[in-house]
Amino acid sequence: MNEAARADDGLGYAVNAPYYDLIFPAPIRDMLNAALHELLPGARAVAEIGPGTGTFTESLAGLLGPDAEIFAVEPARIMRAALMSRLSRLPDANVTVLPEDALTARIDVELDAVVLFNLIMHFDEEARARLWQKWTSALRPGGLLVMEAQFPQTAAAVPTTVVPGRALGRHWYDTVSRADVIGDTMIRWVMTYRTWENTRLLQEETAEFDCHVISDELLEKELSAVGLVRDDRAPKGIHAWRRP
Ligand SMILES: C[S@@+](CC[C@H](N)C(=O)[O-])C[C@H]1O[C@@H](n2cnc3c(N)ncnc32)[C@H](O)[C@@H]1O
Repeated sequence: MNEAARADDGLGYAVNAPYYDLIFPAPIRDMLNAALHELLPGARAVAEIGPGTGTFTESLAGLLGPDAEIFAVEPARIMRAALMSRLSRLPDANVTVLPEDALTARIDVELDAVVLFNLIMHFDEEARARLWQKWTSALRPGGLLVMEAQFPQTAAAVPTTVVPGRALGRHWYDTVSRADVIGDTMIRWVMTYRTWENTRLLQEETAEFDCHVISDELLEKELSAVGLVRDDRAPKGIHAWRRP
């Protein structure tokens, strides 16, 4: 079942959504924002696939200004609710929200860039082949496909870690995270979102996500196969691939 359908059933992103902005790791957010600033100035048409609650959509809108057109493709209703509420508070943002899947959404302008942050682990090999094909052909010559390098790089267990979040009013939020191996190329992330008041644990809720492991090597092979070439301006931890 896809993540939008799982969320409609109260799983995955339905559990994660209320916490998303509070528990997103600040160093990763900063790294991804820095990559957008490095790679996308001057872009006039950009698609963001799987924008979630819109953290990076807001960054793109601020970076590119109202003359640039942004398309945000978000199929999960609960994530889209947060996204559209955020965007409705940004009067200058020129963002069109498409409530569709990455493989079905249609955009009728040539794109300068397609941004896919924290998304591609949801696609198996066959779906990735279609994803790369579809969005490569949506780019203008010289346009960029931008995503982060995946973690982990092999199907290996990731031990339990507490990822600090932030406070909202009297409460503090964090995440207990681990990944189990569930196949040769798949892991299951188990994320428990905790709500604290001082040292008292008020609530914990767990979401699971079955994710495909996609190494840098594999990504390079797949993106080269659709004719993209690496853009050497990509900062560390980022893949930027250009349509020649
Ligand atoms: C981990 S969140 C990332 C959100 C945002 N890109 C960020 O980095 O903060 C993954 C998002 O991808 C969306 N998603 C999952 N499968 C998708 C698909 N097939 N097409 C488009 N979006 C999808 C989910 O609904 C979710 O909002």
